Amino acid sequence: MKNIALLGSTGSIGTQTLDVVRASQDKFNIEVLAAGSSIGAIRKQITEFSPSTVIMSDVRAAKMLDEEFPTITVLSGPDALKESVVACDIVVNAIVGFAGLPVTIAALSEGKTLALANKESLIAGGPVVQKARKSMKSSIIPVDSEHSALYQCLHGYRSDYDRPSQSIKRLIVTASGGPFRGFTTDKLNNVTLEEALEHPTWDMGPKITVDSSTLMNKGLEVIEAHELFGIEYEKIDVVVHPQSIVHSMVEFVDSSIIAQLSMPDMRLPITYALNYPERSEAEWGSINWDEITKLEFEQPDFKNFSCLKLAYQAGEEGETAPAWLNAANEVAVAAFLNGQIKWADIPHLIAQALDNYDSRKAEEEHDIYEADKQARLITNQLIAGI
Ligand SMILES: NC(=O)c1ccc[n+]([C@@H]2O[C@H](COP(=O)([O-])OP(=O)(O)OC[C@H]3O[C@@H](n4cnc5c(N)ncnc54)[C@H](OP(=O)(O)O)[C@@H]3O)[C@@H](O)[C@H]2O)c1
Repeated sequence: MKNIALLGSTGSIGTQTLDVVRASQDKFNIEVLAAGSSIGAIRKQITEFSPSTVIMSDVRAAKMLDEEFPTITVLSGPDALKESVVACDIVVNAIVGFAGLPVTIAALSEGKTLALANKESLIAGGPVVQKARKSMKSSIIPVDSEHSALYQCLHGYRSDYDRPSQSIKRLIVTASGGPFRGFTTDKLNNVTLEEALEHPTWDMGPKITVDSSTLMNKGLEVIEAHELFGIEYEKIDVVVHPQSIVHSMVEFVDSSIIAQLSMPDMRLPITYALNYPERSEAEWGSINWDEITKLEFEQPDFKNFSCLKLAYQAGEEGETAPAWLNAANEVAVAAFLNGQIKWADIPHLIAQALDNYDSRKAEEEHDIYEADKQARLITNQLIAGI
């Protein structure tokens, strides 16, 4: 029986992780649940899964749950999140945004298996996360479907993939293209929040859905792939594949390509991550070939979706530039979700924020938090000026 800390349990990845656990109750025990403020949802999860610890970032929600469930330890705050990983075998980081960074660092520092959905922590904290990753015998099993695909393709090739291999020509990260694929600049100027939240193939939380519409999600995934697999940026390509059946591919130096395919269902990469290195029987994502008539591929539109280019630039710059990019994006997306700015403002704000990047080195955890803070401050000032 593996003990799981599921952090971000009330979100899209969190609830799908619970679907996977529910289907394999003999294998997994939910030891810790954590969320922000969704008290109604977590109350039901506590009743069903009986965790020993619950953490809410919202102090009032934590207090209410503490009174309601006296036999459970209810805590609040980033330190509680960090401490929660100690008693678990697998940490599923399904928190959205930069708030997931303490969990990623703590899980790796404690030598735990980290099933990582929270891409923002790896992107923003790159150099510091890599230090924690090397210091203990911990492992990251990616949950993001593209990186799970790359991980599986690399494992299909050789088991010591962790060392940057001369045999890899390039990683090919697929992108659905989002709801605005093929839109002109004029059309993009008038898109609405409702349209941005209508993803053509995946049902996800609001932040990542907006990121998918700007292609920033793909840009973040390029940085994530670089950090996870140690492959240089010039060897990581993005290809638009509107059906979201091919989740990513690895091309080897002999030009042979290995791909991973399934229907778009996050419960498959979650199942893979929770069972790794075994494979477990599951039907999530199973392809019915009668329904698949074509698989299409096209080049991404870097001009109209400049977030993708900005992400490559910040990734190549390294140090705290990805943290800066991530923070600017989180602030801009939150402002778009709140109705403060237009969709088309998002890439401009991020570009302007990056123009103010202060080139801080990423030596300690503190540097990442400082970069994040500065970038948020500047992006908020830019928004106030709109
Ligand atoms: N959804 C997908 O299909 C998908 C695919 C690949 C990767 N990812 C990545 O997975 C992560 C989660 O995405 P999502 O779509 O599941 O997001 P989501 O639906 O918005 O859920 C976010 C979760 O994080 C919790 N949370 C927010 N702030 C927190 C904090 N400070 N402390 C503890 N918990 C906090 C939320 O709690 P409340 O409900 O209380 O606010 C919720 O449980 C993101 O990094 C995303 O990029 C998602």
